[in-house]
Amino acid sequence: MPLLFSVGAMSPVFLEWANLFVRWFHIVVGIGWIGTSFFFIHLDAHLRAAADGAKHGAGKIWLIHSGGYYEVEKLKYVPPGKIPELHWYKWEAYLTGLSGITLLFIVYYLGGSGFMVDPAVAEIAQPEAVAIGIVAIAGGWALYELIWRSPLNRLEGVMNLGCFALLIAIAWGLSHVLSGRAAYMHVGAMMGVIMVANVLFVIQPGQRRMVRANAAGQVPDPAWGGAAKQRSVHNNYLTLPVVFVMISNHFPNTYGQKWNWAILIALFIVGGGVRYFLNTYDRGGRAAPYVLGGAVVAAIALALVTSVPMSSGAPATERVAFAQVHGVIAERCMQCHSAHPTDDTFREPPNGVKLETPQQIAGVVAKIKLMAVDTNAMPLGNKTGMTANERALLGNWIAQGAPLD
Ligand code: HEC
Repeated sequence: MPLLFSVGAMSPVFLEWANLFVRWFHIVVGIGWIGTSFFFIHLDAHLRAAADGAKHGAGKIWLIHSGGYYEVEKLKYVPPGKIPELHWYKWEAYLTGLSGITLLFIVYYLGGSGFMVDPAVAEIAQPEAVAIGIVAIAGGWALYELIWRSPLNRLEGVMNLGCFALLIAIAWGLSHVLSGRAAYMHVGAMMGVIMVANVLFVIQPGQRRMVRANAAGQVPDPAWGGAAKQRSVHNNYLTLPVVFVMISNHFPNTYGQKWNWAILIALFIVGGGVRYFLNTYDRGGRAAPYVLGGAVVAAIALALVTSVPMSSGAPATERVAFAQVHGVIAERCMQCHSAHPTDDTFREPPNGVKLETPQQIAGVVAKIKLMAVDTNAMPLGNKTGMTANERALLGNWIAQGAPLD
């Protein structure tokens, strides 16, 4: 690890390359994982009873794709000794997990404290923040595992609610020690780890046991699949929330707000609702359309409620001079957003955004309002110590039409 840390300190450009390649890979294998999972859910939902009434057949489906027909039949059991070459779907999950953790290190642990720490949230050092992040991910997964392996497992409904309450507590807790962005990413990483671990430790072993029993001529006990089924359902409901978290860092309107943890939970509920719709609509679930409608209404309500700007600086009675604005930006933003940043982490202006000349500033006024007035997404991790008054000043200037004189 010290080697990695020094690589990070030595060459931000190298780290950025690593970020690019690992992210690229992560997204591709993630698509593979979630794609196959969606595909099998769809298959299962559309199986029609096999016409020949095969004893162990769960149903059949006909598909058309890539210039041909596919006849797929689901069997719970095949005659012993006849187990054909099986295609397992597991590497998509494992590789998504591994590349995700690698990306977490590259972006959040090695990429400078700006992503992990926000002094306005908690004055902690980067190593402490990293430790908190790792403990949250590992601890969250361990708690989850403990709950579902214990006899509590039998109280499934209560435990589902219990786990959800735990998730809220973790999101709340992290958002009070880490930067909003990092808090989101760690909640998502924890859920992602739970999903991968479910495949590795429960779902795959269950399937291997099923195949072994089948090969030995025993009809598999349906109860064996119980735990695997339960974890599959958990994974199913986690997919949309986790995918949201993975794109959340582009949306300061979520993590950059005061009630960021509540917004996160609200979006999880919306994602869960959509998932419920997808799972049940095909099967004729009566409530499905209402749940979908509820999720859409909730999403719109959330957008409206949280669009009220955060900084409530009193409207200026006096005209704000551009010189004042330029002064604030020079002091709080240019360390990173200039042709030659002086910041210790960024050697290139992040996202190509330069805020040196009046024209450059004028060109991104709407983004400045989003990132530094309506939310506190910028300065990153408030590394340069921007004050509420300065945010209000920028807000008033923009409200006055952002004049450049
Ligand atoms: C410590 C370095 C740092 C400071 C200081 C900083 N930023 Fe940024 N800024 C970043 C980084 C890193 C990104 C890219 C974030 C990302 O890709 O998620 C960024 C991105 C942006 C963007 C582009 C957003 C987009 O959607 O592409 C804007 C606009 C911005 N910052 C405005 C500001 C303003 C205004 C200030 C001062 C109030 C400021 N920044 C201070 C690091 C900084």
